[in-house]
Amino acid sequence: MPNLIFPKGFLWGVCSSAYQIEGAWNEDGKGPSIWDWFSRRRGKTARGENGDVACDHYHRWQEDLDLIKALGVGAYRFSVSWARVIPGGGGGVNKRGLDFYDRLVDGLLERGIEPFPTLYHFDLPLALHKKGGWPERDTAAAFGEYAETVAARLGDRINWWITLNEPMVAALLGYMTGSHAPGVRHPGAYTRAMHTMLLAHGEAVRAIRAASPRPARVGIALNLSPVYPERETESDRRAAAVFDVLSNRICLDPILRGSYPPDLWRRFGPFAPPVRDGDLAKIAEPIDFLGVNYYTRHVISRRWWVPVMGGKMVRPRHGEFSPMWEIYPPGIGELVERVWSDYRPPMILLTENGIPVDDAPDAQGAVRDPERISYLGRHLERLHGAMAKDIPVRGYFVWSLTDNFEWDLGYAMRFGLIHIDFTTLKRTPKSSFDWYAGVIRRNGLEETG
Ligand code: FCB
Repeated sequence: MPNLIFPKGFLWGVCSSAYQIEGAWNEDGKGPSIWDWFSRRRGKTARGENGDVACDHYHRWQEDLDLIKALGVGAYRFSVSWARVIPGGGGGVNKRGLDFYDRLVDGLLERGIEPFPTLYHFDLPLALHKKGGWPERDTAAAFGEYAETVAARLGDRINWWITLNEPMVAALLGYMTGSHAPGVRHPGAYTRAMHTMLLAHGEAVRAIRAASPRPARVGIALNLSPVYPERETESDRRAAAVFDVLSNRICLDPILRGSYPPDLWRRFGPFAPPVRDGDLAKIAEPIDFLGVNYYTRHVISRRWWVPVMGGKMVRPRHGEFSPMWEIYPPGIGELVERVWSDYRPPMILLTENGIPVDDAPDAQGAVRDPERISYLGRHLERLHGAMAKDIPVRGYFVWSLTDNFEWDLGYAMRFGLIHIDFTTLKRTPKSSFDWYAGVIRRNGLEETG
């Protein structure tokens, strides 16, 4: 018998995003996105890989929906490709693009799975980038119109919407470090992109509510990480607090409190974004839930000084690591408790949690990934612990349904519950798939102790 039981009605889910799985990058009238363009530039992605084909989900969606059904989840979080729906970013709607999501939503409902769309997951239409992209304020209005278009067409069947996925990550990697599309490296572009994305979120919350025929719940998915000082010194603690502002509070404060952290934009001097009267009220349009994506924590040291940030992210000495990040299960509980005590969102959903594992079929064709089972199980235990303190966490989504295109790192980082052979596109559920199906069936799991 499992001894960690989740509340009745707890929403078990699994997720993906359009560019990472769909392929069909130029079919049925789709316009190019910044990822179609960026991934073709030399040296931008590992081994020059791109999402032209990816998992070919655009053609194999029925097989994928059957697998989601076999997993037994209540909800599937996917993203809608803006450039598929409005190829030029603004203006004409591509009916065939919208039709694809219409079929997907119906296919989910027929299988008893709640569709959980995200409207933006890193793939801005290239046409908008050419007009200035996210650093340009008008992009927020264009996003509002796109949100309205999608909600008007699908809204009669959708109960949950996510506006943007991880705006801080999209702004930071896209416009400051340049490791993600569109590969810009400029502090002013970064701060303006950040502000426009938050405005776009507010626009979309309103647009979805106005266009949706049913009273849907609307939220956003933020990538949050608890931040710890490396040493218990005053200078490390101060550096950790600055890092927390830049990585967590930069989105949490405006969305849930209607203000930016007091010293946030001062750090950027002349590169602070233009914030107009009324902007913060728009950004703080009340949401129905906060989506939290949790993968790892950050440990910060002041032994190195870094401009703007003050301190540097360091690799903890005694940590346990995946190929990408430190594995730190207590962080999920601490994060949820902190978000609840500081911001009191109406509801919290864990909208992403997962680990890359270098797994492959064995001689019998089975794919065993005990590392993933251990990672997910330990995080669920900690989440359960936080929920026992009466924090309204109502759902949990594994990243990801299938192995897929992990952005600049390409196909080598395998996050899926389902293995994909990227030559044949054969799908093979891994041992973690069976394990997660069991957790969902029992609505709980065995404590590992
Ligand atoms: C998140 C992204 C998702 C995937 C995972 C590993 O930051 O939302 O697309 O890349 O990380």
